Parts: sequence; C-alpha cells; structure tokens
Amino acid sequence: MTIEQQLVGLIEHDDSVDPFPVTGWDALVWVVGNATQCAHFLQSAFGMRLEAYSGPETGNRDHKAYVLRSGGARFVVKGAVDPDSPLVAHHDRHGDGVVDIALEVPDVDRCVTWAREHGATILAEPHDESDEFGTVRSAALATYGETRHTLIDRSGYAGPYLPGYIARTSTLRDGPRLFQAIDHVVGNVELGMMDRWVDFYRRVMGFTNMAEFVGDDIATEYSALMSKVVANGNHRVKFPLNEPAVGRKRSQIDEYLEFYRGPGVQHIALATGDILATVDALRAAGVEFLPTPDTYYEDPELRARIGHVRVPVEELQRRGILVDRDEDGYLLQIFTRPITDRPTVFFELIERHGSLGFGKGNFKALFQAIEREQAARGNL
Ligand code: FE2
Repeated sequence: MTIEQQLVGLIEHDDSVDPFPVTGWDALVWVVGNATQCAHFLQSAFGMRLEAYSGPETGNRDHKAYVLRSGGARFVVKGAVDPDSPLVAHHDRHGDGVVDIALEVPDVDRCVTWAREHGATILAEPHDESDEFGTVRSAALATYGETRHTLIDRSGYAGPYLPGYIARTSTLRDGPRLFQAIDHVVGNVELGMMDRWVDFYRRVMGFTNMAEFVGDDIATEYSALMSKVVANGNHRVKFPLNEPAVGRKRSQIDEYLEFYRGPGVQHIALATGDILATVDALRAAGVEFLPTPDTYYEDPELRARIGHVRVPVEELQRRGILVDRDEDGYLLQIFTRPITDRPTVFFELIERHGSLGFGKGNFKALFQAIEREQAARGNL
C-alpha cells in the first residue's frame, strides 16, 4: 500500500470504464473578505506554502488570489480589490467560503458531454487558456448552492497554477508540513435535498455510494442530521452530503444554512500521517479545536471498541483527538472551531489506519460538542 493509499483510503479503479473519470482534487477555491490575511493564516497556522499569485501587479485589477499548497492539497484564496468585483456580492451573501471544488480530469470534453446528457448545468463550456507555460483545458458544472466544480486537464501545462498567475513563494520561515492531502469535502444541503444531490453525483458524475448515516447514528437529544457519502472511482474524491433532520431544536446544519444563506461546503478534512504533531503545531499557532469531554475517553465501551491504536489513549485525551474503528481499521480525527466569522466552515484533521469510514462512532460526541458551541452562540 502506498503512503497516499493509506492516508486517504484509495482503492484500485479502471478509468477506461468510467463515464466521468476523475483523477483527483485540483484545488479548493475560496472567496474571502481579506485574501491577503487569509493567505497569511493558512501559511502561518496551517503550514501551507505560497506557490502562485494573481493581482493588480500582474494585471488582474479585480481581485487578489493566492495559491497555497500542502502536499497534494491546493487552496486558492481570492478577495476583491475592485469594490465593484462580483466577489464582493458573493462575499456579502455567504461570508468566507469555498466557491469551487475543482477536480482534475483526464478528458474535460468527455465529462461535459456525459454531464450535459445527464442533466447538469454547464456554467462554463470546455475551453483552452494558454500562456508561455502551455495550455489548460477546463469547464465548469454547477453543484449545490453557489458552489461549482471546475473540471481541469492541466496535462499540457507547466505553469505555477493557471495562465494569469505568476510564481510567488512565501516570505515566512519554513515549518514542517502539517497535512498531506485533502481527504473529503462535506456539503450541507437543505432539508429533503440530500438524495437529490447524491443522485446528481451518481448520475451526472459517475460517483458511487460509500456510506450513509441516518437517524440514531447521528441524533442527539436535541437535533439530528442525515448524511450520505459519494466517492469517485478511486475514492480519492469523497463527498459526504448532510441535510438537517427534524429534531427538538435547530440542528447544526440549519445553523450553517442560515448563516451561509444556503447550501455550501461545511468542512474540509485534511489528511495527516501524524495527527498528534499536527494538532500540537496548530494549537501552538492559535488554532482552536472543539473540546472533547474527559468522559469520552473514560467510557469503558470506547476502550473496548477501539482496541489497540498506535498511541496511548491518554495522548489522544490530552489533545482531544477522537478515535473510531470499523472492520477495515481505525482512524484518528479532530475538528476545529469555525475558521470564519460566521458559524459555517471548519477543518477536520484525520489520520487513517485502514479505516475507510468517517468516524461514525464519534458522531454523537462530535455533535454534542457542536451543540454546546451553538448554544454559546445563541443559535440552538
Ligand atoms: Fe469529516
């Protein structure tokens, strides 16, 4: 098994029989209120490296865009420079968030033809962009809310990101890499819409169902949600989709939908090979995590369920790291508080040891933790 197979749970897949082959993630593109400061945060706290830039100095008078990388994960953060930029209206409505989950595909035209035949909304037809580094072919499909999937074939391109971007490196000191890849990206959709979007990913993009969680799996005393997971052929791209379920109080998904003004990306799971060191570094840089109560670790059922893991449970407890085991192995995970002003987007750190799951055994503890925070915000 390669490091990457272990980190994100890859499986073998034959692209030639796939109607919509997806090779992997290309980038997560964000619109934020201040890209200059967000880029600094992602470097100084999350250890990402600056790779490329576009802005007024490069002829882009509309916005600044910083391209950041950590291992196989690429983020692009954009913020308006021109007060009349369309990014201003987007940010006004949604706050900071992910606008584009860009995917790497070997054949853009084949994917768009299939997607159109199966009812997708095509936001950008296949087209080429070129500069001295070569040519990128891309197109874009609409997904939930105002989120899109740009489909990119950059096999004929050697530039730092896209035409219009220049290479730019970080002026911060080099630190250790804190995460290696994107593991999964979770979408929150409205009540009753989860199955529609699961169907979209299956029918339009050839994804398959991985797992689903309903009712008791993820209900707390107050609120509940439903979740289903779809994945591309090799499982590199995994999309859990959540919808609120009717509970006694307002669910965390309702809170998200209210503050994001509609469906959107809820959390991004970042794969690490050493979650303890990563969490220590993030905490030292001021990143805040959802607290896990000591009772979680003292529960004899938990100890029996998780069996042997690579570190003593006390080490996990000290950091608030959650652990879950299924028939394939185990995983360690932890969730940050929202990284935005609105209670919308947050990160998960995940270290997989064979498990292909999403921490089902932790859902209850996690949601109770989120609800304590919701209550503190006055939103429960
Ligand atoms: Fe997750």
